[in-house]
Amino acid sequence: MDVFYRGTSLTYKVIGGVFDFYFFAGPTPLGVIDQYTSFVGRPAPMPYWSLGFHQCRWGYHNLSVVEDVVANYQKAQIPLDVIWNDDDHMDGHKDFTLNPINYPHSKLSAFLDKIHSIGMKYIVLIDPGIAVNSSYGVYQRGISNDVFIKYEDEPYLAQVWPGAVYFPDFLNPKTVSWWGDEIRRFHELVPVDGLWIDMNEASNFCSGKCTIPKGKQCPTGTGPGWDCCLDCKNITKTRWDAPPYKINASGLQKPVGFKTIATSAVHYNGVLEYDAHSLYGFSQSIATHKALQGLEGKRPFILSRSTYVGSGQYAAHWTGDNQGTWENLRYSISTMLNFGIFGVPMVGSDICGFYPQPTEELCNRWIEVGAFYPFSRDHANYYSPRQELYQWESVAESARNALGMRYKLLPYLYTLNYEAHISGAPIARPLFFSFPTYTEVYGLSTQFLLGSSLMVSPVLEQGKSEVTALFPPGSWYSLFDITQTITSKGGLKVTLDAPLHVVNVHLYQNTILPMQQGGMISKEARKTPFNLIVTFPAGVSDGEARGNLFIDDDELPEMKLGNGYSTYIDFYATVAKGTVKVWSEVQEGKFALAQGLYIEKISVLGLDGSGQASALEIDGKPVTNASNIELSTTKQNVLEDGGDKVKIVMVEIKDLSLDVGKNFAITWNMGTKG
Ligand code: NOJ
Repeated sequence: MDVFYRGTSLTYKVIGGVFDFYFFAGPTPLGVIDQYTSFVGRPAPMPYWSLGFHQCRWGYHNLSVVEDVVANYQKAQIPLDVIWNDDDHMDGHKDFTLNPINYPHSKLSAFLDKIHSIGMKYIVLIDPGIAVNSSYGVYQRGISNDVFIKYEDEPYLAQVWPGAVYFPDFLNPKTVSWWGDEIRRFHELVPVDGLWIDMNEASNFCSGKCTIPKGKQCPTGTGPGWDCCLDCKNITKTRWDAPPYKINASGLQKPVGFKTIATSAVHYNGVLEYDAHSLYGFSQSIATHKALQGLEGKRPFILSRSTYVGSGQYAAHWTGDNQGTWENLRYSISTMLNFGIFGVPMVGSDICGFYPQPTEELCNRWIEVGAFYPFSRDHANYYSPRQELYQWESVAESARNALGMRYKLLPYLYTLNYEAHISGAPIARPLFFSFPTYTEVYGLSTQFLLGSSLMVSPVLEQGKSEVTALFPPGSWYSLFDITQTITSKGGLKVTLDAPLHVVNVHLYQNTILPMQQGGMISKEARKTPFNLIVTFPAGVSDGEARGNLFIDDDELPEMKLGNGYSTYIDFYATVAKGTVKVWSEVQEGKFALAQGLYIEKISVLGLDGSGQASALEIDGKPVTNASNIELSTTKQNVLEDGGDKVKIVMVEIKDLSLDVGKNFAITWNMGTKG
């Protein structure tokens, strides 16, 4: 179909089918997504580690290169949770195989033992096209189970990286079982922690009805090629191949089945590709999810290029082959925000761009944005030069800075992942989600929110060391330097300093943000002590703040309370008549208690600067010996739009050891000085 939006109207031009229209009335943006995802499927729970940083590229020619990449990340002190292989580990680009020379099984196993022992994970790519090769077990079993899409009663022939391929028909229950079995067999050989399902639109290098040419060789070169080398004829004989209205699929001049499965090909039960085309990647995600879940009962991680309504229930998504350009860096934000709205909140773009080679400056700026994508992965094309974050010292520095912050924010991101799972709420959101009446932010996609109150305002243009950002009404605290505050009554446009290694991230008022101390890998970062950042509107004498925290054993397939392996806590804070109170209400604490997690510090921002902290009490008991508790006062800058400047302070309560899994209450007075 072609869909045209013209501001006041929406036009669908379709080549068939019946429409069912559903209207999700909200009325809030989060309400709309809640209603929509309760209908199409709630987003999948993601494992904790998947919120860490991922490194990938096409063209890690052998295992030593991969080992080297991991070692270089460690050396450069840049956090890394997941190392990926594109199709380089495969034998002749065939799914579920290993190249015996470049990725020998024994060496790969030893490498995986090593990285798994420190908590790192490994993911590989698979394509749907199964090589037509009579000595290839996956193919043989596929043929004997009759799992492929048909054309005139024969498997439909196409071409992808391994050469001639057949496409499994994931609408067929037999295919789903066969696929599950192939994944199980491969997992016994290579204990991968997730799967990347690529090219599943499905992408075909040829079009129409093809046969394997006799005596003709596909061109061979050093790298992969994508020219069609089968003998193919256009199929135009049915209205399924040449519908009377030409939709804009790869351009108006192309047939609807151009470089994909012919639209008159047939799936299980006689369903035409014409009717099922858009379900291909979706059905593969469901089959892959089922297979991974069946393996060890662990929470699956799947990354899919093709998605459909409801894909978020099974898979994460990256935005495909982007370009290493400033324009594509900017574009990555709106695409990410759209996918959150579509119910696929675990999304990101190839950091630094897939191709062509990014400049050093662009890669600096890209990691400063990408460190805040829900799915944060550096990936590059086969023909691109290497672009791991340590390749340039300046990029490494920006990465340590931005990813360093991400790793401190992991408990917040994971809680957002939980909220996405139970209510559809996007992890990365447009500003209008939190400020629906502040119309200036409508359509803004140069800044974005993580959750309801953490705002990222990155540099998206070449040669800039400042960024002009919109601040909706209220108080915003700079996360990298919480002594910097921006406050306005009616919203403000502010030009912020943003030298090469700086990304501006601000936390909104009325929030309690759970942070930890970060680290080089999420497994370690998640064990570190907590720091709660409490933000009141700057200078108020009466105010409140809220936050929450969800953590669990992320190996469990489900993400829910009540199983004894999860923890959920609401945090509250108030300031009233000079008394500040911060407390927690633990709904379930067992998991946090078993992990020995504790809160070490509470930083309260925005308090009236005329006061001085005194009379500290923890759980109703006065703290008389304050040697391990420090109350400190820090001056902050306040920017106002016309109103009076207010002097505000930060109070930090340090050296605490409050169990995360138990209720606590802390109070003190902000008495007047002198
Ligand atoms: C296309 C994917 O979009 C890209 O990320 C990948 O590197 C290539 N296929 C090769 O597998």
